[in-house]
Amino acid sequence: MTKNLISTATMSKREALQLINLAEAMKVRSGEQSIRALLTGGTVANVFFEDSTRTRISFELAAKRLGADVLNFSTKGSSVSKGETFGDTMATLDAMGIDAFVLRSSQSGAADELVASGLTQAAVINAGDGTNEHPTQALLDAMTIREHFQLVDDQDLAGLHVLMTGDIKHSRVARSNAFLLATLGAKVTLCAPREFMPDSFKNEENQLTSNFDEALATKPDVVMMLRVQSERFDQALMPSTTEYIAGYQLNTERASALPSQSIVLHPGPMIRELEIASAVADGQRSLIRRQVTNGVFARMAVLYSGVTERMTVDV
Ligand code: CP
Repeated sequence: MTKNLISTATMSKREALQLINLAEAMKVRSGEQSIRALLTGGTVANVFFEDSTRTRISFELAAKRLGADVLNFSTKGSSVSKGETFGDTMATLDAMGIDAFVLRSSQSGAADELVASGLTQAAVINAGDGTNEHPTQALLDAMTIREHFQLVDDQDLAGLHVLMTGDIKHSRVARSNAFLLATLGAKVTLCAPREFMPDSFKNEENQLTSNFDEALATKPDVVMMLRVQSERFDQALMPSTTEYIAGYQLNTERASALPSQSIVLHPGPMIRELEIASAVADGQRSLIRRQVTNGVFARMAVLYSGVTERMTVDV
């Protein structure tokens, strides 16, 4: 079990399967009183310097379902507006007695920096840092894929092909998924227009393409669509909306040509009718709402692992 969760790049297959199996167990047993008492006495701080719906609320729910006390910090309404630094903000919260920090920031490397700063001995969980990583999203995605293909225990994703398409370059979800899915043995193809192609990815095994239709013709088992992260780049660099929709939207025609067992994922938030047509997002292949459901259990597993490890190591 790991205390901090910063990245999937360094996560072993054993660690990943341990967390996913724990998340699956949480899903089966979440109503039980013993689960609701697992983190009684613990305190989880959700610290969000960037907006969120799914991640923030599912971490809050996950912590509450484990019996922890939860505090929610967001920049708006805080003393950050008076000039308080990131370090002073985190040290102030830490002084109140925190067992796990769930940190979202628009700064790549923020979670790593918090651990390295020594400001806290609490578990640090990266809830999305700039364009870098979003490890709990990748875990809940892998959990959802495994669940759909009825893989259990030590079964990994070998033999499955995952096609990720969209703004790969600015996507922390793409990065965390590319690392984790490859570690779990899946074949990963990354598809993006030239403007959204990543400069480099650590994992050399990932295939890159700019031709969505050719990539779909290889009959991937999973098609994961990604949002254009328009808040992270100069709009002048964006391909035209018409070209993007023509080349990269998962529309009904493209989705209906997929094999019957193929599934569609999207981490959200979706920009409907841009990267994905509503009929596909709400269609039979879509497991987008299942991803959200599984997010609560994946985060229960990560919080349980982090807080118990912190108590074992540091108390
Ligand atoms: N998928 C995801 O991180 O969504 P939020 O930004 O709403 O948390």
